[in-house]
This record gives sequence, structure tokens and C-alpha cells, in this order.
Amino acid sequence: MINHKNIILIGFMGCGKSTVGYELAKKLNFNFIDADAAIEAIAGENIHQIFSERGESAFRKLETDYLKQLCEQNIAGNILATGGGMALSEENQKYMKQLGVVVWLDAKFDLIWQRVKSAKHRPLVTNTEEAKVNLQTLYKSRVDVYAQACDLKVEIDRLTLDEIILGIIESIRYAKES
Ligand code: S3P
Repeated sequence: MINHKNIILIGFMGCGKSTVGYELAKKLNFNFIDADAAIEAIAGENIHQIFSERGESAFRKLETDYLKQLCEQNIAGNILATGGGMALSEENQKYMKQLGVVVWLDAKFDLIWQRVKSAKHRPLVTNTEEAKVNLQTLYKSRVDVYAQACDLKVEIDRLTLDEIILGIIESIRYAKES
């Protein structure tokens, strides 16, 4: 029995928010929302286009507007997989807490890099040594923010997908109700 309106997954790129969110939604009979995909649909452009044509700050505004809209709609019964930067602003953190229990999926940077280095859909990632260093700096700069934004953390490095899902279901029972 889940006593939370919604479950919000936060964390760095490559930590499995979308994959875990999709499977978790199936398991709980919740609806799955991928925030990046929803924002792309609203904007009528993919994230690369939004970043290159309008700039990162415009993307961040779309993220905040989207979260605000979900709060206004008072949605329930959803797993929301956020983009890796969505939990960074205090305003977004406030909206997320309003929506439900916030779960941080974290992994060691080496695993993250292995997963994201070849992906073409992330404007903040290119497969070069320089990009790796920059991304690691970005990861380190965000860790404290994710810690502050979440209600609980799951370290995914050595867990299977099933174990991650069971871990989330079990641990949210102990998180304050939203
Ligand atoms: C971003 C992460 C991406 C996407 C955008 C920016 C970030 O989402 O929102 O490219 O700032 O970390 P994923 O975490 O799903 O890759």
C-alpha cells in the first residue's frame, strides 16, 4: 500500500530514472510520466533543439512551468522521472515535495559515465576526455543539492532493476506522507 500521492525520481543523468520509473509504475499500477518527454511535447522540439535554439535557461524555465502545472492539476498516482537538472532550483524542489515523495537515484560517477558517454540525446554530454572531466565536476556540484531535495536515496550501483524497485517500494513506507 503506497501512502504517497506521487513518486518523484531525481538524480544525475544515467542513474536510471526513466527505466526505473517505467517499471515502478507498472509494478504499482501508477501512471508513468517522463518529464523530459513531456517538456519536448509541450515545446514542440527535442531537448537538443531547445538547448541550442533557446538556451539552457529557457529549458530550465520550461521545467519549472511544467512542475508548477502538475501541482496546479493536483495530480495523483504518478511516477515522475525528472531530468537530471530539475531538482536544482529551490522553486522546483518545493513543487516536487508538494507532489509527493522524492527519491534520489544515485550511482558512482564511473558507472554514470559508462552509461551516458555514447548517448546522443543529452546536450550536456559528449564522448571526449574533456567532457568527462566537465561532467564529473557537474556531478560533484550537484550531489549536495540532490541530498537536500530528496526524502530518501537509493544507491543503484550494485542493484538489479528488480532490487531497485523493491528497495524504493519498501523504503517509501518509512518516508513522511505527502
Ligand atoms: C539534464 C538531464 C537530462 C535533460 C537535459 C538536462 C541535466 O535528463 O533534462 O539534457 O541538466 O542533468 P536525464 O537526466 O534524463 O538525462
